[in-house]
Amino acid sequence: NHILLEKFWKIKKKLYWKIDLIGPNKIKTAVFISGTGTNLKTLYNFSLKKKSPIKIELVISNNKNAKGLLFSKSKKIISKVFNFKKRVIIENKILKDLEKNKIKLICLAGFMKILSRNFIRKFRGKIINIHPSLLPKYKGLNTHQRAIKNNEKFSGCTIHFVSHKLDSGKIILQKKVKIYKQDTPKSLAKRILKVEHKLYPKAIIKLYC
Ligand code: GAR
Repeated sequence: NHILLEKFWKIKKKLYWKIDLIGPNKIKTAVFISGTGTNLKTLYNFSLKKKSPIKIELVISNNKNAKGLLFSKSKKIISKVFNFKKRVIIENKILKDLEKNKIKLICLAGFMKILSRNFIRKFRGKIINIHPSLLPKYKGLNTHQRAIKNNEKFSGCTIHFVSHKLDSGKIILQKKVKIYKQDTPKSLAKRILKVEHKLYPKAIIKLYC
């Protein structure tokens, strides 16, 4: 009986969680970008779907020329640019914006700045990142170039929690992509990016649905 009761509560909890995610109760999400913003675009399109647990309420960029900002502004998402030269001051401003907009999840999508330990602590377990390699291999920059140079047969992409160590937080999902002999860093990046666009929504579903 005890087990049955426990099962009942588990199902009830899951159901409530799901009901909670309909419409205005979706998880308020901020996306941080630095560049083109194709992952932002996929996350946005995903967020409009009924099955999506997230709603994108805020876009933050460290780069005023990021192409992704044109997209976020065209969708009327609050979009803010911060110059990260004075990181502590800027991060405090961002934290205020996150609070103001009741943000509960941060998705880094091609965000090329490193967040401080303090910032990450304040959003512990609620910041996720996409990285274009099969972590723990090829952390940091120029991943495709290094994978090709090392004659890797596969590369890929990883969605992981952000911890204070660069590209080292717990892995949520990963997908392999084959490297061909004729690949250049550019052709590989392009092929992996397509896979990234499928992986990011999948990781969010895995986490919250
Ligand atoms: C993506 O390939 C993403 O994985 C990578 O930057 C690209 C951004 O593309 N991120 C990193 O390298 C983070 N270290 P997008 O602006 O079109 O989404």
